[in-house]
Amino acid sequence: MGKLRVLNDEVIRELLDFRRVLSLVEQAYSLKSSGEGSVFPLIVHDFEPEKADMDIKSGYLKGDINVFGLKLVSWFGDNVKRNLPALNGTIMVFDGETGLPLGLLTASYITCLRTGAAGGVAIKHLARQDSERLLLIGTGHQALYQLAGAVAVSKVRKVMVYDPLDYQSSVSFCRGAESRLDTILAFHDSAQASQLQLEPVRDIERAVGQADIIVTVTPSRKPLIKREWLQRGTHLNCIGSDMEGKQEIDEAIFSIARIFVDDLSQAIKVGEVEIPLKKGVIELEDIVGEIGDVILGKLPGRTSDEDITVFDSTGIALQDLVTAKHVLELAEEKQLGTVIDY
Ligand SMILES: NC(=O)c1ccc[n+]([C@@H]2O[C@H](COP(=O)([O-])OP(=O)(O)OC[C@H]3O[C@@H](n4cnc5c(N)ncnc54)[C@H](O)[C@@H]3O)[C@@H](O)[C@H]2O)c1
Repeated sequence: MGKLRVLNDEVIRELLDFRRVLSLVEQAYSLKSSGEGSVFPLIVHDFEPEKADMDIKSGYLKGDINVFGLKLVSWFGDNVKRNLPALNGTIMVFDGETGLPLGLLTASYITCLRTGAAGGVAIKHLARQDSERLLLIGTGHQALYQLAGAVAVSKVRKVMVYDPLDYQSSVSFCRGAESRLDTILAFHDSAQASQLQLEPVRDIERAVGQADIIVTVTPSRKPLIKREWLQRGTHLNCIGSDMEGKQEIDEAIFSIARIFVDDLSQAIKVGEVEIPLKKGVIELEDIVGEIGDVILGKLPGRTSDEDITVFDSTGIALQDLVTAKHVLELAEEKQLGTVIDY
């Protein structure tokens, strides 16, 4: 009757090209804006607060893509003691025409690429065209892909790297970043790679003042950046806040910024805008809109070189689904993965 293809990260890594994911994520945001993509309400469950939880993000993409589905991610903190990864997830893809299941994919690598791509898309549409200096805050699993997103779409050459918990992590990150970046971006032009200057930084206030673009990618619950440190014209990508209570930047920044989100309903609940809204620093009307509306030209993004712009990414299922559908097609062409007939 039907065929379900099962893909693991090893196969997905072999097949996926980051620059292609960038354009797919941009397409997914656009489809959402044009009414061809829906994000369903987020489901979150705490098995044990601060120790074990899970969330389900789901959605539906119409048009040529025509799939619906979900990503379920679990976090079991004690897994580290068991020598197992704490964060695990799978993506399920269903055919939008028949409802039949098409694929089951491990979620780790797709999450890295689609989140890095989201950061890149926002920089492309919201940062100043002449941006050259990037401050990356956070050096964990997602950080390199955020850097890849920025480098792929901008003229960024100088990269300051700050780890809020451990300076040595910034040092190690910078040491390996160039070659790891090359494996993601496959620099066609080796000059592009060698022009990148990566520098670990200790003084975050100074680094914020020098940055044209700031990317925050930590699970922080306290602001890491103050409003008075920012220079005019800066663009901020807030990537880390994807759960109630997380906060990476001073809520006062929102009162002077043009604010964009990936999905309004989700961002209000779990995004970087959650706390400024709850504290009354901003009202709902102060959020200019969703990134898809900027991509389609329905809303102006940056209006001058003086604007401070913020993109609040909570991560939506449409990013996962568009990428998963693409990689399933590639796997079918190359006969990769495991196929279950049903
Ligand atoms: N928006 C999205 O689509 C999306 C996608 C994936 C992950 N995320 C979120 O991004 C964040 C980072 O993910 P990751 O996989 O890179 O995490 P990670 O654990 O691999 O790395 C976390 C980084 O933040 C630092 N850090 C840890 N705890 C901190 C704290 N309390 N305060 C400040 N810094 C702290 C660490 O030193 C490290 O540099 C998480 O909050 C994750 O949920 C968002």
